[in-house]
Amino acid sequence: MSAIRYELIKTCKQSGARLGRLHTPHGVIETPIFMPVGTQATVKSMTPEELKEIGSQIILSNTYHLYMRPGHDLVKEAGGLHKFMNWDKPILTDSGGFQVFSLGPLRKITEEGVHFRSHIDGSKHFISPEKAMEIQNALGSDIMMAFDECAPYPADREYVKNSLERTTRWLKRCKEAHTNTEKQALFGIIQGGMYKDLREQSAKEILELDLPGYAVGGLSVGEPKELMYEVLDYTVPLMPENKPRYLMGVGSPDDLLEGVIRGIDMFDCVLPTRIARNGTAMTSVGKIVVRNASYARDFGPLDPNCDCYCCRNYSRAYIRHLVKANEILASRLITTHNLHFLLNLMKQVREAIMEDRLLDFKEEFFKAYGYTK
Ligand code: GUN
Ligand code: ZN
Repeated sequence: MSAIRYELIKTCKQSGARLGRLHTPHGVIETPIFMPVGTQATVKSMTPEELKEIGSQIILSNTYHLYMRPGHDLVKEAGGLHKFMNWDKPILTDSGGFQVFSLGPLRKITEEGVHFRSHIDGSKHFISPEKAMEIQNALGSDIMMAFDECAPYPADREYVKNSLERTTRWLKRCKEAHTNTEKQALFGIIQGGMYKDLREQSAKEILELDLPGYAVGGLSVGEPKELMYEVLDYTVPLMPENKPRYLMGVGSPDDLLEGVIRGIDMFDCVLPTRIARNGTAMTSVGKIVVRNASYARDFGPLDPNCDCYCCRNYSRAYIRHLVKANEILASRLITTHNLHFLLNLMKQVREAIMEDRLLDFKEEFFKAYGYTK
């Protein structure tokens, strides 16, 4: 038996989007879902209670960062990541592949794995598919991601082909090394860059391994949005109907909608939490930069259509003051609001799928948010 099970509830007659439930060892998730990012075993500035209050059903954490600090042995000794960080709902861990590859000149790829230097103290390390499984096994995440290579954009065909073929070989090693299959589900990652035939090749190779879920990787790496949508147009239909489909590293409101419409069930992105910390809020009428002078005497909430803790209690003028004074509370309040905004957007998306009106919802939402399409 697999650690997780995807249940397709219905498909939106208007858009083809999927409404589902993902059963995990730490509870059931309603999909489509956005996963807040807690890279270092914390969603920056938020307590687990606060995350639950705004409706987080699952969070993502990172193998690479926790391996570097405090170390997976320590987390295991603490009783696993759930216990260590006091989060009792599902956790997905990314494999470290993506983070290690972002280190640029600090790393070297071989067939065996990736050699790299720590971003913290420059010390030398090595992560292989087996090591990535060992670390994620110690962390005890519900969903563990395969150790892959996310090719850069742009990259030539030959590079992408070699890279995806290595990713398949690495996936076989991940599967071989992963024994805790009752408690942890291993997801495979489809690569292949912006090349249709390479996406088909990657999908074919990876689906053969019959895993409990699949992700689309190598997107949102600097390519134009239209190109990402085109890749999704031909990649998602290759993925099995009865398993969850996860689009990695994507989380702007327009991309979430476009992804869901193309059949994606899960997303993660640092965007809402990162922009919160530099004073930008996502609202029902578009992004606002709270620092701007125009909000100095604006005593209304960040988003008049929001009922989060921040919007119920604080004004734009007050939050602007906190941002300008560099106060910690500014980050906390805007993070609360931004995450609530995206989680609530996904809730509305699920309702719209249920009622077969997701395209109508998208049009309305885009118009209000200021997307021109
Ligand atoms: N996060 C965003 N894109 C990717 C990817 O292609 N692979 C992994 N492992 N993580 C990602
Ligand atoms: Zn709010």
